[in-house]
Amino acid sequence: MTHAPASASRPLTVGRPAAPLSGVIRVPGDKSISHRALMFAALARGETTIYHLLEGEDVLRTAAAMRALGAQVEQQGEVWVVSGPGVGQLSEPDDVLDMGNSGTAARLLSGILASHGIASVMTGDASLRRRPMKRVTDPLAATGATFIAREGGRLPLAIRGQANPPALDYRLPVASAQVKSAVLLAGLNATGTTRVEEPVPTRDHTENMLRYFGATVEVESTPEGGRIIRLEGRPDLVAPGEGLFVPADPSSAAFPLVAALLVPGSAITLTDVGLNPLRTGLFTTLMEMGAQVDVVEKASSGGELVGDLHVRASTLQGVEVPAARAPSMIDEYPVLAVAAAHAHGVSRFCGLEELRVKESDRLSATVAMLRENGVRAEIEGDDLVVYGTGGAIPGGGLVTTHMDHRLAMSASVMGLVARQPVRIDDTAFIDTSFPGYLALMNQLGAGFAQ
Ligand code: S3P
Repeated sequence: MTHAPASASRPLTVGRPAAPLSGVIRVPGDKSISHRALMFAALARGETTIYHLLEGEDVLRTAAAMRALGAQVEQQGEVWVVSGPGVGQLSEPDDVLDMGNSGTAARLLSGILASHGIASVMTGDASLRRRPMKRVTDPLAATGATFIAREGGRLPLAIRGQANPPALDYRLPVASAQVKSAVLLAGLNATGTTRVEEPVPTRDHTENMLRYFGATVEVESTPEGGRIIRLEGRPDLVAPGEGLFVPADPSSAAFPLVAALLVPGSAITLTDVGLNPLRTGLFTTLMEMGAQVDVVEKASSGGELVGDLHVRASTLQGVEVPAARAPSMIDEYPVLAVAAAHAHGVSRFCGLEELRVKESDRLSATVAMLRENGVRAEIEGDDLVVYGTGGAIPGGGLVTTHMDHRLAMSASVMGLVARQPVRIDDTAFIDTSFPGYLALMNQLGAGFAQ
Protein backbone atom coordinates (compact mmCIF):
# COMPACT_ATOMS: atom_id res chain seq x y z
CA MET A 1 0.00 0.00 0.00
CA THR A 2 1.43 3.38 -0.99
CA HIS A 3 0.29 6.96 -0.79
CA ALA A 4 -1.81 7.96 -3.76
CA PRO A 5 0.62 10.20 -5.65
CA ALA A 6 -0.70 13.17 -7.57
CA SER A 7 -0.20 11.24 -10.81
CA ALA A 8 -2.66 8.58 -9.60
CA SER A 9 -5.49 11.09 -9.17
CA ARG A 10 -8.85 9.94 -10.51
CA PRO A 11 -10.96 12.83 -11.81
CA LEU A 12 -14.68 12.32 -12.35
CA THR A 13 -17.49 14.26 -14.01
CA VAL A 14 -20.98 13.62 -12.65
CA GLY A 15 -24.28 14.47 -14.29
CA ARG A 16 -27.91 13.63 -13.65
CA PRO A 17 -28.82 9.93 -13.60
CA ALA A 18 -31.10 8.50 -16.26
CA ALA A 19 -33.70 7.34 -13.74
CA PRO A 20 -34.55 7.67 -10.02
CA LEU A 21 -32.24 5.85 -7.57
CA SER A 22 -33.62 2.56 -6.28
CA GLY A 23 -32.44 -0.61 -4.57
CA VAL A 24 -31.17 -2.03 -1.30
CA ILE A 25 -27.52 -1.70 -0.26
CA ARG A 26 -25.27 -2.16 2.77
CA VAL A 27 -22.54 0.48 2.87
CA PRO A 28 -19.14 -0.68 4.22
CA GLY A 29 -18.35 -1.07 7.92
CA ASP A 30 -18.03 1.84 10.31
CA LYS A 31 -14.59 3.44 10.13
CA SER A 32 -14.43 4.53 13.78
CA ILE A 33 -15.51 1.10 15.01
CA SER A 34 -13.19 -0.74 12.60
CA HIS A 35 -10.07 1.08 13.85
CA ARG A 36 -11.05 0.35 17.43
CA ALA A 37 -11.88 -3.30 16.70
CA LEU A 38 -8.36 -3.94 15.39
CA MET A 39 -6.65 -2.05 18.21
CA PHE A 40 -8.69 -3.51 21.06
CA ALA A 41 -8.52 -7.06 19.70
CA ALA A 42 -4.72 -6.71 19.68
CA LEU A 43 -4.87 -5.69 23.34
CA ALA A 44 -7.16 -8.59 24.38
CA ARG A 45 -6.51 -12.22 25.35
CA GLY A 46 -7.61 -14.74 22.71
CA GLU A 47 -8.67 -14.54 19.11
CA THR A 48 -11.26 -11.98 17.99
CA THR A 49 -13.23 -12.58 14.81
CA ILE A 50 -14.35 -9.31 13.23
CA TYR A 51 -17.28 -9.27 10.79
CA HIS A 52 -17.82 -6.48 8.22
CA LEU A 53 -14.55 -4.74 9.04
CA LEU A 54 -14.12 -1.70 6.79
CA GLU A 55 -11.43 -2.62 4.31
CA GLY A 56 -10.69 1.01 3.43
CA GLU A 57 -7.15 2.35 3.29
CA ASP A 58 -7.39 4.14 6.66
CA VAL A 59 -8.29 0.94 8.48
CA LEU A 60 -5.72 -1.12 6.58
CA ARG A 61 -3.12 1.31 7.97
CA THR A 62 -4.25 0.44 11.49
CA ALA A 63 -4.10 -3.28 10.64
CA ALA A 64 -0.51 -2.86 9.41
CA ALA A 65 0.45 -0.83 12.50
CA MET A 66 -0.95 -3.43 14.89
CA ARG A 67 0.99 -6.12 13.01
CA ALA A 68 4.16 -4.05 13.29
CA LEU A 69 3.52 -3.90 17.06
CA GLY A 70 3.39 -7.69 17.37
CA ALA A 71 -0.29 -8.57 16.84
CA GLN A 72 -1.49 -11.22 14.42
CA VAL A 73 -3.99 -9.67 12.04
CA GLU A 74 -5.30 -11.88 9.27
CA GLN A 75 -7.98 -11.60 6.67
CA GLN A 76 -9.72 -14.98 6.37
CA GLY A 77 -12.23 -14.72 3.52
CA GLU A 78 -15.03 -12.44 4.69
CA VAL A 79 -13.80 -12.02 8.27
CA TRP A 80 -10.71 -10.68 10.00
CA VAL A 81 -9.11 -12.60 12.84
CA VAL A 82 -6.92 -10.78 15.34
CA SER A 83 -4.96 -12.05 18.29
CA GLY A 84 -2.69 -9.76 20.17
CA PRO A 85 0.07 -9.68 22.61
CA GLY A 86 -2.27 -7.94 25.11
CA VAL A 87 -2.17 -4.71 27.16
CA GLY A 88 1.39 -3.68 28.02
CA GLN A 89 2.87 -6.38 25.77
CA LEU A 90 3.24 -4.66 22.40
CA SER A 91 6.69 -4.92 20.87
CA GLU A 92 8.78 -2.13 19.40
CA PRO A 93 8.09 -1.63 15.67
CA ASP A 94 11.22 -1.93 13.57
CA ASP A 95 10.21 0.80 11.14
CA VAL A 96 8.18 3.99 10.91
CA LEU A 97 4.40 3.52 11.33
CA ASP A 98 2.69 5.12 8.34
CA MET A 99 -0.91 6.06 9.16
CA GLY A 100 -1.69 7.30 5.63
CA ASN A 101 -4.64 9.73 5.59
CA SER A 102 -6.08 8.70 8.97
CA GLY A 103 -6.26 11.09 11.92
CA THR A 104 -8.20 8.52 13.95
CA ALA A 105 -5.49 5.89 13.49
CA ALA A 106 -2.69 8.33 14.39
CA ARG A 107 -4.40 9.86 17.41
CA LEU A 108 -5.75 6.65 18.97
CA LEU A 109 -2.49 4.83 18.40
CA SER A 110 -0.52 7.58 20.14
CA GLY A 111 -2.43 6.72 23.34
CA ILE A 112 -1.35 3.09 23.01
CA LEU A 113 2.26 3.92 22.10
CA ALA A 114 2.65 6.45 24.95
CA SER A 115 1.68 3.76 27.48
CA HIS A 116 4.11 1.05 26.35
CA GLY A 117 7.83 1.02 27.10
CA ILE A 118 8.81 1.23 23.44
CA ALA A 119 10.10 3.81 20.99
CA SER A 120 8.23 4.49 17.78
CA VAL A 121 7.85 7.00 14.97
CA MET A 122 4.58 7.80 13.22
CA THR A 123 4.02 9.59 9.94
CA GLY A 124 1.25 10.00 7.37
CA ASP A 125 0.39 11.46 3.98
CA ALA A 126 0.55 15.18 3.15
CA SER A 127 -2.96 15.77 4.55
CA LEU A 128 -2.29 13.98 7.86
CA ARG A 129 1.12 15.67 8.24
CA ARG A 130 -0.73 19.02 8.28
CA ARG A 131 -3.15 18.04 11.07
CA PRO A 132 -2.70 18.94 14.75
CA MET A 133 -1.34 16.24 17.07
CA LYS A 134 -0.68 18.51 20.07
CA ARG A 135 -4.27 17.91 21.15
CA VAL A 136 -3.22 14.32 22.02
CA THR A 137 0.46 14.75 22.89
CA ASP A 138 -0.37 17.49 25.47
CA PRO A 139 -2.50 15.24 27.70
CA LEU A 140 -0.42 12.11 26.99
CA ALA A 141 2.80 13.85 28.10
CA ALA A 142 1.46 13.57 31.67
CA THR A 143 2.11 9.79 31.44
CA GLY A 144 5.85 10.59 31.37
CA ALA A 145 6.09 9.64 27.69
CA THR A 146 8.18 11.95 25.54
CA PHE A 147 7.17 13.25 22.13
CA ILE A 148 9.18 14.96 19.44
CA ALA A 149 7.05 16.41 16.67
CA ARG A 150 7.53 18.93 13.91
CA GLU A 151 6.64 22.60 14.34
CA GLY A 152 3.02 23.01 15.48
CA GLY A 153 2.93 19.43 16.81
CA ARG A 154 2.68 17.89 13.33
CA LEU A 155 3.74 14.43 12.15
CA PRO A 156 6.21 12.81 11.84
CA LEU A 157 6.14 12.23 15.57
CA ALA A 158 8.66 10.25 17.64
CA ILE A 159 7.37 8.72 20.86
CA ARG A 160 9.32 7.21 23.74
CA GLY A 161 6.55 5.47 25.71
CA GLN A 162 6.21 4.82 29.42
CA ALA A 163 5.99 1.18 30.60
CA ASN A 164 4.25 2.06 33.89
CA PRO A 165 2.18 5.14 33.15
CA PRO A 166 0.13 6.83 35.85
CA ALA A 167 -3.64 7.09 35.35
CA LEU A 168 -4.58 10.45 33.80
CA ASP A 169 -7.29 12.91 34.79
CA TYR A 170 -8.12 15.17 31.84
CA ARG A 171 -10.80 17.64 30.80
CA LEU A 172 -11.06 17.90 27.03
CA PRO A 173 -10.64 21.47 25.73
CA VAL A 174 -12.20 20.46 22.37
CA ALA A 175 -15.11 18.13 21.61
CA SER A 176 -13.05 15.26 20.20
CA ALA A 177 -13.69 11.53 20.46
CA GLN A 178 -10.17 10.97 19.17
CA VAL A 179 -8.58 12.87 22.07
CA LYS A 180 -10.91 11.20 24.58
CA SER A 181 -10.01 7.80 23.14
CA ALA A 182 -6.26 8.47 23.16
CA VAL A 183 -6.39 9.25 26.89
CA LEU A 184 -8.58 6.22 27.64
CA LEU A 185 -6.30 3.93 25.63
CA ALA A 186 -3.29 5.17 27.61
CA GLY A 187 -5.33 4.34 30.72
CA LEU A 188 -5.55 0.67 29.74
CA ASN A 189 -1.95 0.12 30.83
CA ALA A 190 -2.10 2.42 33.88
CA THR A 191 -2.68 1.39 37.46
CA GLY A 192 -5.70 3.17 38.91
CA THR A 193 -8.66 4.94 37.36
CA THR A 194 -8.34 7.16 34.30
CA ARG A 195 -10.85 9.99 34.29
CA VAL A 196 -11.82 12.01 31.21
CA GLU A 197 -14.33 14.83 31.24
CA GLU A 198 -15.87 16.00 27.98
CA PRO A 199 -17.80 19.28 27.83
CA VAL A 200 -20.08 17.90 25.07
CA PRO A 201 -20.70 14.16 24.53
CA THR A 202 -18.77 12.77 21.56
CA ARG A 203 -19.06 9.35 19.89
CA ASP A 204 -18.65 6.69 22.58
CA HIS A 205 -17.50 3.69 20.54
CA THR A 206 -14.35 3.39 22.67
CA GLU A 207 -16.38 3.17 25.87
CA ASN A 208 -18.88 0.70 24.35
CA MET A 209 -16.26 -1.57 22.87
CA LEU A 210 -13.98 -1.59 25.91
CA ARG A 211 -16.97 -2.76 27.95
CA TYR A 212 -17.69 -5.42 25.32
CA PHE A 213 -14.13 -6.72 25.79
CA GLY A 214 -14.67 -6.82 29.57
CA ALA A 215 -13.27 -3.50 30.88
CA THR A 216 -15.02 -1.53 33.63
CA VAL A 217 -16.07 1.83 32.20
CA GLU A 218 -18.40 4.16 34.11
CA VAL A 219 -20.09 7.15 32.53
CA GLU A 220 -21.69 10.01 34.44
CA SER A 221 -23.58 12.97 32.96
CA THR A 222 -22.61 16.41 34.24
CA PRO A 223 -25.20 19.13 35.06
CA GLU A 224 -23.69 21.21 32.17
CA GLY A 225 -24.61 18.51 29.64
CA GLY A 226 -21.16 16.91 29.39
CA ARG A 227 -19.89 13.52 30.52
CA ILE A 228 -17.29 12.09 32.88
CA ILE A 229 -15.81 8.73 31.86
CA ARG A 230 -13.90 6.54 34.32
CA LEU A 231 -11.88 3.52 33.18
CA GLU A 232 -10.32 1.01 35.59
CA GLY A 233 -6.70 0.44 34.57
CA ARG A 234 -5.11 -2.89 33.57
CA PRO A 235 -8.42 -4.62 32.73
CA ASP A 236 -8.44 -8.24 31.65
CA LEU A 237 -9.59 -7.69 28.07
CA VAL A 238 -10.93 -10.92 26.57
CA ALA A 239 -11.81 -11.66 22.94
CA PRO A 240 -15.64 -11.82 22.77
CA GLY A 241 -16.77 -15.40 22.01
CA GLU A 242 -19.43 -14.30 19.53
CA GLY A 243 -16.96 -12.07 17.67
CA LEU A 244 -17.45 -8.44 16.82
CA PHE A 245 -19.93 -7.17 14.22
CA VAL A 246 -19.15 -3.79 12.69
CA PRO A 247 -22.32 -1.87 11.73
CA ALA A 248 -22.54 -0.15 8.34
CA ASP A 249 -21.03 3.33 8.69
CA PRO A 250 -23.67 6.06 9.17
CA SER A 251 -21.13 8.59 7.84
CA SER A 252 -20.86 6.58 4.59
CA ALA A 253 -24.63 5.95 4.46
CA ALA A 254 -24.96 9.75 4.41
CA PHE A 255 -24.01 9.92 0.70
CA PRO A 256 -26.58 7.51 -0.81
CA LEU A 257 -29.09 8.81 1.75
CA VAL A 258 -28.80 12.44 0.62
CA ALA A 259 -28.60 11.38 -3.04
CA ALA A 260 -31.88 9.46 -2.74
CA LEU A 261 -33.57 12.37 -0.95
CA LEU A 262 -32.58 14.78 -3.73
CA VAL A 263 -32.95 12.76 -6.97
CA PRO A 264 -36.68 12.99 -7.78
CA GLY A 265 -38.67 9.74 -7.48
CA SER A 266 -35.93 7.80 -5.66
CA ALA A 267 -36.61 5.12 -3.05
CA ILE A 268 -33.75 3.15 -1.49
CA THR A 269 -33.02 1.07 1.61
CA LEU A 270 -29.74 1.18 3.53
CA THR A 271 -29.33 -1.85 5.76
CA ASP A 272 -27.56 -2.43 9.11
CA VAL A 273 -26.65 1.22 9.58
CA GLY A 274 -25.05 2.14 12.91
CA LEU A 275 -27.54 4.18 14.96
CA ASN A 276 -25.40 5.13 17.92
CA PRO A 277 -27.23 8.25 19.19
CA LEU A 278 -23.92 10.17 19.19
CA ARG A 279 -23.65 9.63 15.41
CA THR A 280 -27.19 10.35 14.19
CA GLY A 281 -27.20 14.18 14.08
CA LEU A 282 -27.47 14.13 10.27
CA PHE A 283 -30.58 11.92 10.34
CA THR A 284 -32.22 14.22 12.91
CA THR A 285 -31.33 17.29 10.84
CA LEU A 286 -32.56 15.86 7.54
CA MET A 287 -35.86 14.88 9.16
CA GLU A 288 -36.22 18.45 10.46
CA MET A 289 -35.72 19.56 6.83
CA GLY A 290 -38.62 17.34 5.75
CA ALA A 291 -36.80 14.14 4.72
CA GLN A 292 -38.91 11.01 4.46
CA VAL A 293 -36.76 8.42 6.22
CA ASP A 294 -38.22 5.47 8.12
CA VAL A 295 -35.81 3.96 10.60
CA VAL A 296 -36.39 0.33 11.57
CA GLU A 297 -34.19 -0.57 14.54
CA LYS A 298 -32.75 -4.05 14.81
CA ALA A 299 -31.06 -5.86 17.67
CA SER A 300 -27.96 -4.09 18.95
CA SER A 301 -24.58 -5.68 18.34
CA GLY A 302 -21.32 -5.27 20.29
CA GLY A 303 -22.88 -2.47 22.34
CA GLU A 304 -23.98 -0.55 19.23
CA LEU A 305 -27.52 0.02 17.89
CA VAL A 306 -28.15 -0.79 14.22
CA GLY A 307 -31.13 -0.45 11.89
CA ASP A 308 -32.39 -0.17 8.31
CA LEU A 309 -33.16 3.19 6.73
CA HIS A 310 -35.95 3.40 4.13
CA VAL A 311 -35.45 6.62 2.20
CA ARG A 312 -37.75 8.38 -0.27
CA ALA A 313 -37.08 11.49 -2.35
CA SER A 314 -38.33 14.54 -0.45
CA THR A 315 -38.69 18.28 -0.77
CA LEU A 316 -36.34 19.78 1.81
CA GLN A 317 -36.55 23.12 3.64
CA GLY A 318 -33.61 25.11 5.07
CA VAL A 319 -32.72 24.45 8.70
CA GLU A 320 -30.67 25.85 11.58
CA VAL A 321 -28.37 23.28 13.20
CA PRO A 322 -27.27 24.14 16.75
CA ALA A 323 -23.58 23.98 17.69
CA ALA A 324 -24.33 21.37 20.37
CA ARG A 325 -25.31 18.90 17.63
CA ALA A 326 -22.00 19.25 15.75
CA PRO A 327 -20.12 16.36 17.45
CA SER A 328 -22.89 13.91 16.47
CA MET A 329 -22.56 14.78 12.77
CA ILE A 330 -19.12 16.33 12.46
CA ASP A 331 -18.20 14.36 9.32
CA GLU A 332 -21.53 14.96 7.62
CA TYR A 333 -21.51 18.75 7.04
CA PRO A 334 -20.16 18.69 3.47
CA VAL A 335 -22.99 16.43 2.25
CA LEU A 336 -25.53 18.25 4.43
CA ALA A 337 -24.37 21.45 2.70
CA VAL A 338 -25.30 19.83 -0.64
CA ALA A 339 -28.77 19.00 0.75
CA ALA A 340 -29.07 22.61 1.98
CA ALA A 341 -28.00 23.93 -1.44
CA HIS A 342 -30.83 21.93 -3.02
CA ALA A 343 -33.39 22.88 -0.33
CA HIS A 344 -35.81 25.81 -0.27
CA GLY A 345 -34.66 28.65 1.99
CA VAL A 346 -31.54 29.45 3.98
CA SER A 347 -29.68 27.03 6.27
CA ARG A 348 -27.26 27.90 9.06
CA PHE A 349 -24.92 25.32 10.63
CA CYS A 350 -23.48 26.69 13.87
CA GLY A 351 -20.17 26.08 15.66
CA LEU A 352 -18.08 24.39 12.94
CA GLU A 353 -14.56 25.35 14.12
CA GLU A 354 -13.49 21.66 14.24
CA LEU A 355 -14.20 21.33 10.51
CA ARG A 356 -11.07 23.38 9.83
CA VAL A 357 -8.78 20.56 11.07
CA LYS A 358 -10.25 17.53 9.28
CA GLU A 359 -8.70 15.78 6.25
CA SER A 360 -8.82 19.27 4.70
CA ASP A 361 -10.08 22.63 5.95
CA ARG A 362 -13.59 21.36 5.29
CA LEU A 363 -15.28 24.62 6.13
CA SER A 364 -13.47 26.57 3.38
CA ALA A 365 -13.50 23.62 0.98
CA THR A 366 -17.26 23.12 1.37
CA VAL A 367 -17.94 26.80 0.69
CA ALA A 368 -15.65 26.66 -2.34
CA MET A 369 -17.46 23.54 -3.64
CA LEU A 370 -20.83 25.30 -3.41
CA ARG A 371 -19.73 28.65 -4.86
CA GLU A 372 -17.90 26.98 -7.73
CA ASN A 373 -21.25 25.43 -8.65
CA GLY A 374 -23.28 28.61 -8.46
CA VAL A 375 -24.63 28.26 -4.90
CA ARG A 376 -24.34 31.19 -2.49
CA ALA A 377 -22.61 30.22 0.76
CA GLU A 378 -20.92 32.27 3.49
CA ILE A 379 -18.74 31.62 6.54
CA GLU A 380 -19.89 33.84 9.41
CA GLY A 381 -17.54 33.34 12.39
CA ASP A 382 -17.68 29.57 12.91
CA ASP A 383 -21.06 29.22 11.18
CA LEU A 384 -21.75 28.07 7.65
CA VAL A 385 -24.69 29.71 5.87
CA VAL A 386 -26.06 28.10 2.70
CA TYR A 387 -28.64 29.77 0.46
CA GLY A 388 -30.88 27.03 -0.94
CA THR A 389 -31.69 27.06 -4.65
CA GLY A 390 -35.06 25.30 -4.34
CA GLY A 391 -33.94 22.35 -6.47
CA ALA A 392 -31.98 24.40 -9.01
CA ILE A 393 -28.26 23.98 -8.28
CA PRO A 394 -26.53 25.45 -11.36
CA GLY A 395 -23.47 23.14 -11.26
CA GLY A 396 -20.87 23.26 -14.02
CA GLY A 397 -17.97 23.83 -11.59
CA LEU A 398 -14.71 22.08 -10.80
CA VAL A 399 -14.47 20.87 -7.19
CA THR A 400 -11.02 20.73 -5.58
CA THR A 401 -11.06 17.95 -2.99
CA HIS A 402 -7.72 18.54 -1.17
CA MET A 403 -7.09 14.79 -0.48
CA ASP A 404 -10.47 14.66 1.30
CA HIS A 405 -12.70 11.63 0.64
CA ARG A 406 -15.86 13.23 2.01
CA LEU A 407 -15.56 16.30 -0.23
CA ALA A 408 -15.21 14.04 -3.25
CA MET A 409 -18.34 12.04 -2.33
CA SER A 410 -20.32 15.20 -1.48
CA ALA A 411 -19.41 16.72 -4.85
CA SER A 412 -20.54 13.52 -6.58
CA VAL A 413 -23.95 13.78 -4.89
CA MET A 414 -24.22 17.40 -6.01
CA GLY A 415 -23.47 16.34 -9.59
CA LEU A 416 -26.50 13.99 -9.52
CA VAL A 417 -28.88 16.94 -9.07
CA ALA A 418 -27.09 19.91 -10.66
CA ARG A 419 -28.24 21.45 -13.96
CA GLN A 420 -24.77 21.20 -15.46
CA PRO A 421 -22.36 18.31 -14.70
CA VAL A 422 -20.00 18.76 -11.73
CA ARG A 423 -16.30 18.01 -12.23
CA ILE A 424 -14.28 16.54 -9.36
CA ASP A 425 -10.48 16.86 -9.46
CA ASP A 426 -9.77 13.57 -7.68
CA THR A 427 -11.88 10.69 -6.34
CA ALA A 428 -8.90 8.46 -5.37
CA PHE A 429 -9.15 9.31 -1.67
CA ILE A 430 -12.70 7.89 -1.49
CA ASP A 431 -10.96 4.54 -0.94
CA THR A 432 -9.82 5.67 2.52
CA SER A 433 -13.33 5.28 3.95
CA PHE A 434 -15.68 3.93 1.24
CA PRO A 435 -13.99 1.43 -1.09
CA GLY A 436 -16.34 0.54 -3.93
CA TYR A 437 -18.33 3.78 -3.57
CA LEU A 438 -18.82 4.39 -7.30
CA ALA A 439 -19.87 0.79 -8.00
CA LEU A 440 -22.28 0.64 -5.05
CA MET A 441 -23.89 3.95 -6.06
CA ASN A 442 -24.17 2.61 -9.59
CA GLN A 443 -26.12 -0.36 -8.20
CA LEU A 444 -28.69 2.27 -7.18
CA GLY A 445 -28.57 3.78 -10.67
CA ALA A 446 -26.22 6.74 -10.11
CA GLY A 447 -24.56 6.16 -13.49
CA PHE A 448 -21.09 7.29 -12.38
CA ALA A 449 -18.42 6.73 -15.04
CA GLN A 450 -15.83 4.27 -13.71
C1 S3P B 1 -13.55 9.95 14.97
C2 S3P B 1 -13.85 11.13 15.58
C3 S3P B 1 -14.09 12.40 14.85
C4 S3P B 1 -14.37 12.16 13.37
C5 S3P B 1 -13.45 11.16 12.76
C6 S3P B 1 -13.51 9.83 13.50
C7 S3P B 1 -13.29 8.76 15.79
O1 S3P B 1 -12.94 13.20 14.97
O2 S3P B 1 -14.29 13.37 12.66
O3 S3P B 1 -13.77 10.94 11.39
O4 S3P B 1 -13.28 7.64 15.26
O5 S3P B 1 -13.08 8.92 17.02
P1 S3P B 1 -12.72 14.14 16.28
O6 S3P B 1 -12.87 13.29 17.45
O7 S3P B 1 -11.34 14.71 16.14
O8 S3P B 1 -13.78 15.19 16.16
